[in-house]
Amino acid sequence: MPRAPAAAHSGNARRHAQFGARAPPARGAARPCVHVRRVKRGTLLAFEGLDGCGKSTQVQRLAHALVAAGHAVLTTHEPTDGPTGARIREMARSGRTLPPEEELRWFVEDRRAHLRDTLGPALAAGRVVVTDRYFLSSVAYQGARGLDWQAILAASEAEFPIPDLVLLLEIDVARGLERVRSRGAHLEGVFEREELLLRVAAIFSAVERPWVERIPAAGSEGEVHAAVVARVRSRLGLGLASPSGSE
Ligand code: TYD
Repeated sequence: MPRAPAAAHSGNARRHAQFGARAPPARGAARPCVHVRRVKRGTLLAFEGLDGCGKSTQVQRLAHALVAAGHAVLTTHEPTDGPTGARIREMARSGRTLPPEEELRWFVEDRRAHLRDTLGPALAAGRVVVTDRYFLSSVAYQGARGLDWQAILAASEAEFPIPDLVLLLEIDVARGLERVRSRGAHLEGVFEREELLLRVAAIFSAVERPWVERIPAAGSEGEVHAAVVARVRSRLGLGLASPSGSE
């Protein structure tokens, strides 16, 4: 199958970091994010959604379909496997909760490392990058912890490359939690978690951006994958084989 041309990415000229946790670059020093924005040639796809919405499976299925169609693909995720991501996971495992501002700082720091070490180089090389979570997770989850989600969204858009497409998998909170439990995950404070996730879902629903596509995710893996493929095709013009069967 011929390789489809890389999709045009949404240009975004604003580039003033507003999170404030990073020192301004010294005169003449390299400015990695600005550089990455300029050289972005690939395509950035992000999956977002509540815990248990089936993102990880859909990332893998989409990546296989893209590779089968001849695209150079990189799959990745946040929190990352790097030092900051490991610190975030370790904290989650310990059951400790950070103040929301601090939590946001950790996720932003992890995303900066992700952009510098993984996303930036892959996009510069013209690859199709599929990430399991990106900045909308900070908007929704840290927003749900009481921070101003619109401010997080604005700061994220100013600092990080705008994704070409976000596939937001929509599922009921109760259904998602049920799936997480059925995977054998130990859920500390399940009622607190449910309340938090209801707020996360409300923020995900309130985000209005042209690069967000909402996909009902309560159906079978095959049905959700077919919907994902249809959106990626129609929105980005990326060549993709039709999914074979939907179980
Ligand atoms: P993840 O590993 O994707 O878990 P799952 O596969 O169960 O969805 O993400 C771990 C948790 O981190 C998840 O509950 C969402 C949260 N998170 C944030 O709160 N903010 C962020 O910016 C990111 C990337 C994740």
